[in-house]
Amino acid sequence: MKKSWLITSLSNLFIASCIGFLLRITQFYKISIPYGNFLHAHSHVALLGWLYLFFYIFIYWMYIPKTSKNKKRFTGCFWITQFSIIGMLFSFPIQGYAFFSILFSSLHIVCSYYFCWISWKNISHVYSIDNLYLKTALILMLFSTLGVWSLGAILPTLGKSSIAYPIAIQFFLHFQINGWFLFGIFSFIFKILKNYNSPIPKYSYLFYFFNLGTAILTFFLPISWHISSFIFYILNSIGLLFQLFSLFLFWKYIHPPLLVIFKKKSVFIYSLYILFILLFSVKIIFQNFQWIPEIAEHSYLIKNLTIGFIHLIVLGIYTLFLFILILTFISTKKINAFIKIGIIIFTIAFLLTDILLILQGAFLFMDWGNITGYFIIISWGSVLFPLGIILFIIGLCNKNIILLT
Ligand code: HEM
Repeated sequence: MKKSWLITSLSNLFIASCIGFLLRITQFYKISIPYGNFLHAHSHVALLGWLYLFFYIFIYWMYIPKTSKNKKRFTGCFWITQFSIIGMLFSFPIQGYAFFSILFSSLHIVCSYYFCWISWKNISHVYSIDNLYLKTALILMLFSTLGVWSLGAILPTLGKSSIAYPIAIQFFLHFQINGWFLFGIFSFIFKILKNYNSPIPKYSYLFYFFNLGTAILTFFLPISWHISSFIFYILNSIGLLFQLFSLFLFWKYIHPPLLVIFKKKSVFIYSLYILFILLFSVKIIFQNFQWIPEIAEHSYLIKNLTIGFIHLIVLGIYTLFLFILILTFISTKKINAFIKIGIIIFTIAFLLTDILLILQGAFLFMDWGNITGYFIIISWGSVLFPLGIILFIIGLCNKNIILLT
């Protein structure tokens, strides 16, 4: 794995978390900033600069033969993508959604198409379960971008106040977060099992079917927030049922061999993995509250719940798993105190802020008002994110840290 690429994507996470901290602190101290513009910068840099780029690095590293042609293509595409992230980082706070930010976002999308194309060409001839997941992840990534392009048609015709506008944004976010990234993570999991000579877990194809069904069917929930329909409620509920089946299959057939691999690595990696699987299960169990129609209909109105839920997925599940992946490819004796303390601080920050966000959301849902000290704890607790990430980066910069191939 290229260390410079890894540090670049982690630096994007650091920047996104600094903006996240700024957003929380300005809410608390009532400081006036163009909040919406900074929010765009935050979500774009975090999703496209951290998660996307890490997936890019890992796919290149694990799946692509390192021919000189590939090296040139992937390296060029990586740095142009990073250039588009820097463009978004500066253009969103200054002008919001306007000429330059749209230009840089489009550049990112074009780069992602090129990335898909060159990756596909390299993986398409080999059939395996991890490749199937990877291909599906790439297709879902392409599919999600339909949401972004449709905005170009919706804005001049129907306008921002039409229901098509939020649905298009939800479409992009849903198929990125519950499609591309989720299938990407599963593909990495199957790849690790394969690399450690573990047999393909039983029912892996059924697991695939349930996950794909869930990704498609649960999109009816955000639609139902704008178009009330009993059918959408039923379709989302079937998606939730599929997800429960897939969780069962994960615990029964995929978790045991994975646990053995991480246990052999170190106690630290093993503990992080246990936290990951717990958070993964908690997320799925939480989502099942949507069986209660009142919650399905109104949950999105309580911002704390939606923001808490998104961050549970992107930080508690995806980012945590990506940290585990990084550690898995460092010689365990070399994992230094900076790396460990950085990850511990990050994990504390996540648990503290996310539990508080979701609890506060539940308080609002029950009409119980605010939790005492909520704003001060969530604002200052968020400073732990950039602190933890910078320590992790410093630890990785140590020249003794060599990423295994
Ligand atoms: C993997 C990392 C992260 C990703 C992918 C991510 C993604 C997002 C997304 C998609 C939104 C919703 C944007 C919208 O409603 O338009 C959001 C909002 C937000 N995020 Fe993050 N985020 C990440 C990390 C963080 C961190 C570390 C912090 C805290 C330091 C943070 C603080 C916030 C805040 C305060 C909001 C705004 C809530 C609001 O006012 O609506 N995020 N984030």
